[in-house]
Amino acid sequence: MSAGDYRREYESSLTDPEGFWLRAADAVQWTARPTRALDDERAPLYRWFPDGRLNACANALDRHVAAGHGERTALIYDSAVLGRTETYSYRRLLDEVSRFAGVLRDQGVEYGDRVILYLPMIPQAVIAMLACARIGAVHSVVFGGFAPRELASRVQDAAPAVIVTASGGVEPRRRVEYLPAVDEALRLSGHRVRSVIVAERDGFAHGRAEFDGAADGEPWLSWDDLMATATPVEPVPVAATDPLYILYTSGTTGSPKGVVRDTGGACVALTWSMANIYDVGPGQVMWTASDVGWVVGHSYIVYGPLLAGATTVLYEGKPVGTPDAGAFWRVVADHGVEVLFTAPTALRAIRKADPDASLLADHDVSSLRTLFAAGERLDTDTYRWAAEHLKVPVVDHWWQTETGWAICANPRGLEPLPIKAGSPTVPVPGYDIAIVDGAGEPLPAGMEGNIAIRLPLPPGTLTTLWGSDERFVSSYLSAFPGFYATGDSGYRDEDGYVFVMGRTDDVINVAGHRLSTGAIEQVVGSHPAVAECAVIGVADVLKGQRANAYVVLKSGVSADPEELQRQLVALVRTEIGPVADFRTAVVVDALPKTRSGKILRKTMRQIADGEDYVVPSTIEDPDVLDAIRPALRP
Ligand code: COA
Ligand code: AMP
Repeated sequence: MSAGDYRREYESSLTDPEGFWLRAADAVQWTARPTRALDDERAPLYRWFPDGRLNACANALDRHVAAGHGERTALIYDSAVLGRTETYSYRRLLDEVSRFAGVLRDQGVEYGDRVILYLPMIPQAVIAMLACARIGAVHSVVFGGFAPRELASRVQDAAPAVIVTASGGVEPRRRVEYLPAVDEALRLSGHRVRSVIVAERDGFAHGRAEFDGAADGEPWLSWDDLMATATPVEPVPVAATDPLYILYTSGTTGSPKGVVRDTGGACVALTWSMANIYDVGPGQVMWTASDVGWVVGHSYIVYGPLLAGATTVLYEGKPVGTPDAGAFWRVVADHGVEVLFTAPTALRAIRKADPDASLLADHDVSSLRTLFAAGERLDTDTYRWAAEHLKVPVVDHWWQTETGWAICANPRGLEPLPIKAGSPTVPVPGYDIAIVDGAGEPLPAGMEGNIAIRLPLPPGTLTTLWGSDERFVSSYLSAFPGFYATGDSGYRDEDGYVFVMGRTDDVINVAGHRLSTGAIEQVVGSHPAVAECAVIGVADVLKGQRANAYVVLKSGVSADPEELQRQLVALVRTEIGPVADFRTAVVVDALPKTRSGKILRKTMRQIADGEDYVVPSTIEDPDVLDAIRPALRP
């Protein structure tokens, strides 16, 4: 790499995308090499590598074993909650994945079928994902912190043939029983699966015996029993354009969007990113401290590192409390982690518990080369703290579930660029970014506006929403014709560095977890005492944002505010899940609105966060805003 490499590559990706991505595709193993990169016949819906065929699992595992690297470590499972570590070589992982692929086959799962995975951070999660890819089935992982109703909506939408789960997850303060949640989700969804496969974990009350034959007769089968007699299967070549997975994410409405990732695009883009963004190659150790239920986990716990022939760490634990704020440093030292990727909220949690990073002294973290952060903006205080204590480059990079990999980053492998605190650096090759006003007109450097990406998006990004091209187009491609609307706002400085400042819609980010205020509003509004409500994301020093609800009671109804808050908190926990971490519901007399009846959520949020704001000229009754101000900013 040399100075100017980034600029050259970036320009080549935009002026000659065909050549650029076909060259990048050479790093992937194909059963039929693509002769074309882009298919734009159905624009604005695009497909990458339309005549290519490959298998993602074969690229992640078989090819490394075939190349003689079977004994190299593929996966290190480190459970801080159980105090256990287990290592999988590429050969062992391939063996288990091939056999679990055989299990899925035996359960009638075929090419194109969906499989829902509701699993904690255990090796079976990785094995099940890769096994689906091996037989051309489409996995959809659902994060364990979601409640049964959220799981049910995903089951309904994806209509899986089989669900793979575990008997439970281990959280620092409690054990989470998964089987009752799956049972309830199946009942709520009304969908019938062929079977539920359960990875049984020690110490859970709800073992298989209790559930065998439950849920109207679907068999509940033991992972271990099935694996004991499983026959390994070979990888099935699929079209590059076939879906590798569906991952549901929060949109602006209550119903989650099923982001569809294609196989060829994901393999090419992730392989490119491992070398050019993360600078991680074969045999090197990358640890992404996220969860397989999130996109970051899909891309950089599972597929990215394994495609690159690297070693990935699967960490079951938290940044603090398992057992202390030195947990991350312990994992880095124990496994020789070279590249660590985490969310800023995790760094803030560590900093809060150990402000001087004194626990670093207990661990040898000299293997660490780079710390990457994403999931929310890396605030400058946290950036400085991490850079000062770790003494390695701390690299913010910006992306979304939809894009599957970074839109803006510091391409450490291609050409390390100077870091500017508060900026995820520059657009990644393939992403042609524009900052536009509400009418889609470009804004000059320094002015904040909507961040849009000129179509086509590069390989590895979403190709559509599951089951609905129309929703894909209306959600992302209609606001600015010819562009994908990211839903984020920001600006570019004179040097071309991008600064991402926040969302322009109702999506909020609580501890790196993406939530919809609209979905929380729906739940709060369903309480019998509530006439209407507004949920806004307010700034939180630890979690980035927090969802607060402001509720108006039905006329004639009186409720003790504390008791109502307790009930609403319980309701959100049951309906959405503990991950929403919803705690505050305040009763107010009225909500500020425009004359056309739109609640002034943005103004409410600005008041709550102590920001400057302009009262919209369309406000219906300024007195209502005055009255609610003390509740917003006590
Ligand atoms: N299964 C079941 N429950 C889960 C869960 C899971 N996989 N993950 C979280 N929860 C629960 C927690 O147990 C907790 O429940 P409680 O209210 O009963 O205690 C609740 O959801 C909130 O959990 P969490 O968000 O982990 O908050 P916390 O206060 O316990 O910890 C942090 C705060 C910052 C340490 C933690 O949020 C964290 O590690 N965040 C990083 C997230 C991340 O990496 N995101 C990836 C984006 S790239
Ligand atoms: P998710 O789909 O859960 O990955 O969330 C994506 C959203 O998180 C983005 O649209 C941004 O709002 C926010 N986000 C993620 N990474 C960053 C970052 N590095 N800087 C600013 N915002 C970010």
